[in-house]
Amino acid sequence: MTTLEKAEAAERALSEELDRVVVKSVIYTSGERDPRLPVPRPPDQGKRYMMGHDPRLPRMPERPTLFDFFKYRFGPASHLLQSARLALKRGAGEKVVMACLVHDIAIAGFIRGDHGYWGAQLVEPYVDEEVSWAIRYHQALRFFADESVGYHYPEMYVKLFGADYQPDAYIRRDYEYARRHRWYMTSRLICVNDLYAFDPTVQVELEEFTDIVGRNFRQPEEGLGFDASPSAHMWRTIMWPTKYL
Ligand SMILES: [Fe+2]
Ligand SMILES: [Fe+2]
Repeated sequence: MTTLEKAEAAERALSEELDRVVVKSVIYTSGERDPRLPVPRPPDQGKRYMMGHDPRLPRMPERPTLFDFFKYRFGPASHLLQSARLALKRGAGEKVVMACLVHDIAIAGFIRGDHGYWGAQLVEPYVDEEVSWAIRYHQALRFFADESVGYHYPEMYVKLFGADYQPDAYIRRDYEYARRHRWYMTSRLICVNDLYAFDPTVQVELEEFTDIVGRNFRQPEEGLGFDASPSAHMWRTIMWPTKYL
């Protein structure tokens, strides 16, 4: 694109944006405002409401892939990429590497709270059951040490939540369940490779994982979000987070 074309595109986006009324979902602002109150909305002055692509966001391809979501909708993914590379370097199997690569995508692009559960649900229709299972339970396992694999309670959690923090009862219950499960170690290996994956000097490219993702993630032909899977609507919400209905 030339500079002129870029300027024109930006202007078009701006006028499109001004053309549509954006009303934020309750969950985006709950707490900043009382969710029981009517949702504030800008005076619509006869304008139409946002019912699709939000021009303030980069446009996604018609049939988006997992990598497209990494590129256009997720925040910096170096933590995920570093975790996956660490798992690979340590000789973990492809399922573990795949799980590491997406274990925190809910934090990267959707909803933080209960990110393990959300993340698992997002990928469940497209990965081996063991992979989504491992992602679901890594959130709980992170709070409990397993010295047999050298996993300690994260220092960072002490800093973030305080030394006296106690995980919720449902986290404890899910941990108890997970540690007796045959796939326990797959989930535990996410934690093991998670813990040390915060090095700002290590640069990892998404493309390093093209083959592993190709073999372990069943990319729907219609594109993520358009395949009628049980989580397709969640991918659409990531793509169009301001859609009115
Ligand atoms: Fe996590
Ligand atoms: Fe993580």
